[in-house]
Amino acid sequence: MAMVCLSDFEAYAKKYLPKIAWDFFAAGADDCSTRDENILAYKRIRFRPRMLRDVSVMDIRTKLLGTEISFPVGIAPTGFHQLAWPDGEKSTARAAKAMNTCYIASTYSTCTLEDISAAAPGGLRWFQLYIHRNRAVSQQLVQRAEALGFQGLVLTADLPYTGKRRDDVRNGFRLPPHMTLKNLEGAFEVCKMSLLDPSVTWNDIYWLRSLTHLPIVIKGILTKEDAELAVRHGVQGIIVSNHGGRQLDGGPATIDALVEVVEAVQGRVEVYLDGGIRKGSDVLKALALGAKCVFIGRPALWGLAYKGEEGLQDVLRILQDEFRLSMALAG
Ligand code: FNR
Repeated sequence: MAMVCLSDFEAYAKKYLPKIAWDFFAAGADDCSTRDENILAYKRIRFRPRMLRDVSVMDIRTKLLGTEISFPVGIAPTGFHQLAWPDGEKSTARAAKAMNTCYIASTYSTCTLEDISAAAPGGLRWFQLYIHRNRAVSQQLVQRAEALGFQGLVLTADLPYTGKRRDDVRNGFRLPPHMTLKNLEGAFEVCKMSLLDPSVTWNDIYWLRSLTHLPIVIKGILTKEDAELAVRHGVQGIIVSNHGGRQLDGGPATIDALVEVVEAVQGRVEVYLDGGIRKGSDVLKALALGAKCVFIGRPALWGLAYKGEEGLQDVLRILQDEFRLSMALAG
């Protein structure tokens, strides 16, 4: 099967992954309207292409908080990569490094932060944090990530409780016994998401600030009001995200929410986006509307499911080529 576009990887993953894993990756909340809207919204946005502008040389590099990456697509935090490929997050780290882009490792990784670091020394990595009721657990994770050379801390703000994903409920989804949440081992029994702290507020940004020198990026912002609060609380970056439509169903597509966030922020911090990026032209639309960089969630998992590190590199390379081509054709 020729792998030409990201949908080809999706079809492969759907065909070959165990149903329970596929359903978990694909899931959206409730009737999945926000998940689907993330993708549909791109189709409503049209370019105003310009011609005869000498596109023989193009520079698609960018910088994330001062660190250069090869093109403006990074890997969003997703849990449980071993469900897609035996080497799990180690393969993700290697692919991100090979493609010289940023990988945000999830709190819910199935490899330790130490193993992820050792798999791809020197790669640009941020650590994504869910704040737990036991604050010592979160503190220790943040400090471990910093000591290991992770260069940013991403606080996910949209998961005080886990959204209702119907297929996961029907399937009784849980990790197979040989996989664990490696970074939380010893902290508590695995996979009890109810141990997340639903009482987190903006003031906890100050608490995080007191724990680490790392830049703090907040993930899950969808409104100008929250964007303003994020800036006022001193974060360095915002990821406009609705968790791939897995949390509140009925919220906006991220590409639609991006505009008001960018307008509110007025360049004071970097603004990124995730959700529904499936083509290079989607990346270009997000950049044209003010995002500094975008991140991919599910497509990275499809790449892993196809061929591990190599499959994820294929996914990134296809997006890179499509992005470059769209830039040229749009002038
Ligand atoms: C996620 N997402 C997520 N976000 C996060 O902050 N921590 C996490 O552990 C996870 N886990 C996770 C698992 C799976 C299977 C999916 C699909 C998503 C959300 C993720 O970071 C991102 O916001 C979306 O995946 C982006 O949408 P697309 O690219 O999947 O459309």
